Amino acid sequence: MAKPKVLVTRKIPPPGLEIVSEYCDLDLYEGYEPIPNAELLSRIRDKDGLLCLLTDKIDKSVYDASPRLRVVSSYSVGCEHIDVDEATKRRIYVTNTPGVLTEATADLTWALLMATARRIVEADSFVRKGLWKHWHPELMLGHEVHDKVLGIIGLGRIGEAVARRAKGFKMKILYYDKIRKRDLEEQLGAEYKDLEDLLKESDFVTIHVSLNPDTYHLINESRLKLMRSSTILLNAARGPVIDQKALAKALKEGRIAGAGLDVYEKEPIDLDDDLMRLYNVVLLPHIGSAEIETRSKMAELAARNLISVLKGQMPPHLVNPEVLKLRPLSDVKMM
Ligand code: GLV
Repeated sequence: MAKPKVLVTRKIPPPGLEIVSEYCDLDLYEGYEPIPNAELLSRIRDKDGLLCLLTDKIDKSVYDASPRLRVVSSYSVGCEHIDVDEATKRRIYVTNTPGVLTEATADLTWALLMATARRIVEADSFVRKGLWKHWHPELMLGHEVHDKVLGIIGLGRIGEAVARRAKGFKMKILYYDKIRKRDLEEQLGAEYKDLEDLLKESDFVTIHVSLNPDTYHLINESRLKLMRSSTILLNAARGPVIDQKALAKALKEGRIAGAGLDVYEKEPIDLDDDLMRLYNVVLLPHIGSAEIETRSKMAELAARNLISVLKGQMPPHLVNPEVLKLRPLSDVKMM
């Protein structure tokens, strides 16, 4: 039997590529930059499977160009770059990589929290520029972290992992989620708050929701106004959850103390963005899961998801389970 044809849109770490090439006829886009759209549309034409990244827009035009496509496996947990509803209508399986990047993203959130609160990036550049002449009682004063109030927006896997770390800092943990999680409240000692109260009462606010129509600009101008002037806002989830212009204005006017951001409304962030000129922000290039070990696990999981579907087996993480009714796995099976 001929092997299924699969397009992988970027060089992902070896375990992923090894698994895909063992079972499939692999077409790998080798560029360092995202695959150009025209190239994607041309190379997907004869493919049964696609392993893509969050930088690839997978929409109707991709499905139109690929009449044989059975599975889209994303090397990411977020899937807003994929038109999942349309994929389901066309009986295409969509998979993602949750779980394996939970702890990495929680660690990065904490790195952002500490770096922003204690002005680590600013202090490093101060030393490198040769500006450090004396120890001074008021040099690089930051904000206390331990014993403070941490407000978590979205107590899913990553939010929970962030909360576990906060216990080590003896922080009071507040959370807001559209679903109340009473078991976690008990385990973590977390207190449920509505969003407005959480914003008013927290010293650090950290965002861990996925991006969807309900969470778009969840943190807007009026909600930023509820926060204290000593509060620090963190986002390692998705940029459009915050109204970025309103955030830059709040930071510039000193209405909040600082922000640590790994994600932006538009990525990469423009060099002339107002945030670029502010010192009370730490800006990272969307590296939440960027650990050697984690990226390998993501590659392996993305490959396993893809291969499972093509083998007619239930993939470890199916994003659109409704597809099972429209096209059973036995009908997708190619090997
Ligand atoms: C990263 O942002 C991911 O969704 O995996």
